[in-house]
Order: sequence, then C-alpha cells, then structure tokens
Amino acid sequence: MEDVLVRRAAQLLGSARRVVVFTGAGISAESGVPTFRDDLTGLWARFDAARLATAEAFHADPDLVWGWYEWRRARVSRAQPNPGHLAIAAIGSRAVDSTVITQNVDDLHERAGTRGAIHLHGSLFTPRCVAAAGHPATFEDPSDGPAAQPDEGRRIPPPRCASCAALVRPGVVWFGEALPETALTGAVEAATACDVLLAVGTSGVVYPAAEIPRIAARSGATVIQVNPQPTPLDTVAAINLRGPAAEILPALVAAAWEETDG
Ligand code: OAD
Repeated sequence: MEDVLVRRAAQLLGSARRVVVFTGAGISAESGVPTFRDDLTGLWARFDAARLATAEAFHADPDLVWGWYEWRRARVSRAQPNPGHLAIAAIGSRAVDSTVITQNVDDLHERAGTRGAIHLHGSLFTPRCVAAAGHPATFEDPSDGPAAQPDEGRRIPPPRCASCAALVRPGVVWFGEALPETALTGAVEAATACDVLLAVGTSGVVYPAAEIPRIAARSGATVIQVNPQPTPLDTVAAINLRGPAAEILPALVAAAWEETDG
C-alpha cells in the first residue's frame, strides 16, 4: 500500500463535512464471517448461497433455508468486530456528520459502536412472519439451539408466528425482493449529500445497493475504495486503497484526524 495514497485519502476524509461509509461483506471477513463470493464451507459447501437466499427456496424447503440462516446467525453471534469496524465507529465520533450504510445482515457495526447504521439488506436478528403483515418474531439464543454446531449443515424447522401461525422467516432481503423503503431512501439521501464516500469490502455488483457509491460520485463526492481486489467500483473511486479493511481503515482514520488536529 502506497503511503501517499493513504495520506491523500486521509486528507479528504479528515476535511469532509459529510462522510458516508458504505460497507459490504469484506468488512466482516476478518471477523471470520465468510463473504458471499467465498465458497460455502463444510456441509453447506454443496449449496449455492444465491439459490438459498430466495423466497422460492424458503417456500420449497423452509427447514433447509431456516437451518442455513440459523447457522449464519450462530456464526455471527460468535464473531467479534474487527479493527475495521472499530475505525468506522471512530469516524462516527470524529466526522462532523457521518452515516454508515451496510449491505451486511450482521450486527458487527453496532457492536463496534456505530449508531444508526442503515441496513439495506435487513438483519439476521429481526425475524418476521411470512404473512403480508410481517409480524415481528422472536427466536431462541443460537448458542443454546441446534444451530450451535456451525458445520453441521442442519435442517431446522422455522418457528410459527405467535400472532397468525404463519412460518417465521429471516428478516433479510432475498434475491428478487425489494429493499426496505426507509433504508433505501435514507441511503440515497446520505449518498447525494456527502462530500466523501468510503466504499469498503464490497464487490459492487448487487443492485440497487451498488448504485449508492455511483450516486455519491455523480453528486460530486469523492469516492475512496478499500478492497484487496479490483471491483467495478475502481473506475468510480478517485482513490483505490488495495488491502484488507482491518489494516487500512485504522491507519486511514488515524492519519485523517492527525492531519486536521495537528
Ligand atoms: P461480496 O461477497 O460480493 O464481496 C465481498 C468483497 O469484499 C469482495 O470484493 C472482496 O474482494 C472484498 N474483501 C474480501 N476480504 C476483504 C477484506 N479483508 N477487507 C476488505 N475487503 C475484502 O459481498 P457484498 O459486496 O457485500 O445480498 O455483496 C453484496 C450483496 O450480495 C450482499 O449483501 C448479498 C449478496 O448476495 C443479499 O443477500 C441481498
């Protein structure tokens, strides 16, 4: 990683009034949460994530899909925020105005101390029933439940809604479903108004979320990308910092506020 690029990015970040941090699965990779482009491991290896994460898959085989989400929820519950999540939380306390927009369904930004993160793709921790009304539901602590064994690839029957007895489904956005309207509107507004958008650990290929950095760039913001691999956002970003988030973000945030404080 070239120091000069980090310093340029730090100057822009430290002097921005409005910052958006837009994250994808890569921010949680160093916490041990696999990204979507990683092959599924263990007994889940024979399944395709893109085919499990659909309403059709859930209706065809609810126990399989609920079991997969319970396994993911158990795994996330055991993971800890990494220095990348903590650096993003520090941006929240240093920048004049900042918004975190995430495509992730984990809660690692919140556990790192970020407040008010916008979850474009929902959350593993907000199950609801499949009925149109979508009553919120509760579930067992996975550390006590059957999903506690992460590599078992277990089928687990979903619970029934306490209000209407419909099946309970994960509170995430599945392929082909609309994004939650309030989250999407808030994300577009923040992207339109920011001076700097930091895109971290996203392949930038799943829409409409992938539009967020593009909206920021079109609205005049400087886009800074952190990713060890090239992505379609390389051409949108003014600065591409190639490397893992947990290494680059702490250095970037430290340099950003040294620049302005000192
Ligand atoms: P992906 O799995 O598509 O991409 C992960 C990105 O993280 C890749 O570009 C990696 O190069 C990068 N990466 C890996 N390790 C990293 C690290 N240590 N630091 C920084 N970057 C790293 O994940 P997303 O872009 O989040 O949608 O995927 C977008 C959406 O596609 C997901 O929210 C999900 C998925 O299908 C839904 O479920 C609706």
